[in-house]
Amino acid sequence: MNKLTFLHLTDTHILQSYKGSLLEKVDGPNGNPTDFFIKILDHIKSFTQKPDFILISGDLVHEGNASDYAYFKRIIEDHVEDIPVYTALGNHDVTAAYWDGYEGKANCSDKLFYETAINGYRLIVLDSSHDHSGVGMIDSNQLDWLANVLKTPTENGSIVVVHHPLEAGEVIDGHALTNSKDVLNIIHDTDVIAVLSGHTHQNKVSSYGKILLSTADGTAFGVNIGNESMHLNDRTGFSLCTVDENGLAVQTVRFPDDINTILSFSLQALQHN
Ligand SMILES: [Fe+2]
Repeated sequence: MNKLTFLHLTDTHILQSYKGSLLEKVDGPNGNPTDFFIKILDHIKSFTQKPDFILISGDLVHEGNASDYAYFKRIIEDHVEDIPVYTALGNHDVTAAYWDGYEGKANCSDKLFYETAINGYRLIVLDSSHDHSGVGMIDSNQLDWLANVLKTPTENGSIVVVHHPLEAGEVIDGHALTNSKDVLNIIHDTDVIAVLSGHTHQNKVSSYGKILLSTADGTAFGVNIGNESMHLNDRTGFSLCTVDENGLAVQTVRFPDDINTILSFSLQALQHN
């Protein structure tokens, strides 16, 4: 069975300028979400094993226009070397601006959902952006399409991507996909190995039967929600995912990470002790 290694990034919230936007105050002395995204992409270049692909699961741009999506695309072209990048849309994306600026297709407001085959696996991307109010929903057209696609199993299994996390795991109140049950009913007892999400800006891994549900940290900022308020913080990162015959393994990578090495050993020296 083929092994697959990929990076799950989410909630990049790119803008050419944050001035006047809701995220203006996130643009601090240490940089802004665009700077963090670039640093993460540059960090990925240092990996000894090149990932098979990079997934960015929505809120690509923060309420931006076509020119912001073109900027987002340019950043990827300038900082990602020879690794396929797959995108999904979130509630802060603007559908027509995405098609225009990222895909070069003007006057299009189609939902962004598709399937693609990678090393015997199948990546299935759904669009939960719905009406861009923050509510996440998969429309009936996509549900029918998903059910039809999953009728045919793949060699190694399917990975579903949806910006809003499914309710089966523990999700912050009001942030799960509203019609999670519809999706869960379709994917259970199929070849789906995992469902990957973003939206909450908090990493969380849970399971639904044999299916792993993984929500990645946002690359733009972290979010903590109290009883009465919501706090944005500087917890940023992504997930390093590996799939093999045992299923999906997820490693949360905090970046930047303030871990300091306190002791180093030569592995060769250890083997001889
Ligand atoms: Fe977000």
